[in-house]
Amino acid sequence: MPEASASVPTSAQELDELPRPTGLSDVKGWFHPADQVLFDWFLSRQLSREEPGDLLELGAYLGKSAIFMGGYLRPGETFTVCDLFDSPAPDDANSKEMNRSYATLTRRAFEANYRSFHERLPAIVQAPSSGITSHVRPESCRFVHIDASHLFEHVHADIAAARRLLTPGGVVVLDDFRAEHCPGVAAATWGAVATTGLKPLCITATKFYGTWGAYHDAREALGVFLAGRGDMWHGAEEVAGHPMIRISGAKAVQPAQPVVRSPKGRGLASLLGRRG
Ligand SMILES: C[S@@+](CC[C@H](N)C(=O)[O-])C[C@H]1O[C@@H](n2cnc3c(N)ncnc32)[C@H](O)[C@@H]1O
Repeated sequence: MPEASASVPTSAQELDELPRPTGLSDVKGWFHPADQVLFDWFLSRQLSREEPGDLLELGAYLGKSAIFMGGYLRPGETFTVCDLFDSPAPDDANSKEMNRSYATLTRRAFEANYRSFHERLPAIVQAPSSGITSHVRPESCRFVHIDASHLFEHVHADIAAARRLLTPGGVVVLDDFRAEHCPGVAAATWGAVATTGLKPLCITATKFYGTWGAYHDAREALGVFLAGRGDMWHGAEEVAGHPMIRISGAKAVQPAQPVVRSPKGRGLASLLGRRG
């Protein structure tokens, strides 16, 4: 969630007139290289271990993180994206948040961006994230990215939904869990750690990664991976009795980027380059 929207389009017309992206860096949004490295690590690990499950994102904006996640979808799996887009928010506080940060967002712009990289759109739920459990089966998701409203009540409910929708070993990621301008996310995140058994795997400057499942193996494997990277610092922390990795990735080198489909939509896969 942006504190200021200086780098995003300022009118619906401007949004519609944006040139089609030629790479992920052309898609406006908030998805930093360190988090791209971690999404890549967690999602690739799930693929290499053949962990079954679908993908879910709450809060897509123009699709930056969704486009990235869509590259880790296997045949037969579902990627669900939930966003209000240009629909009204469910309450006044959320409405104020939408007007302040995403006033020019349209579903059309998201879809155009997504289709620049992927053959098929994800399953789109254009509605408040509070209703997501009516659209996604319990225990069906291996990875859930929570990045919708940043108000406590909404994030608290999104975390409860994620707990219900994740597979036993699934990973949940929470955006902006420590930012000054959205203290409700911090309260909801650490509240879930303190009261629901959510275990922190790691944190970056912008995102929290956790699981309600087994986490020692994943955390240890992540530590080994990070030890081999010269571009990302990491250290050990303990929170509420849970060991956790803290990552500083200001100089992180971003992983392979999603490939833009050919202008005529022929031939090029929508998958991330290195996964082919
Ligand atoms: C921070 S942006 C998402 C950024 C995106 N994940 C990225 O990587 O660029 C938050 C999004 O959440 C959506 N949103 C806000 N409140 C919501 C709610 N109650 N339910 C569903 N979506 C919501 C907004 O429309 C906006 O697109």
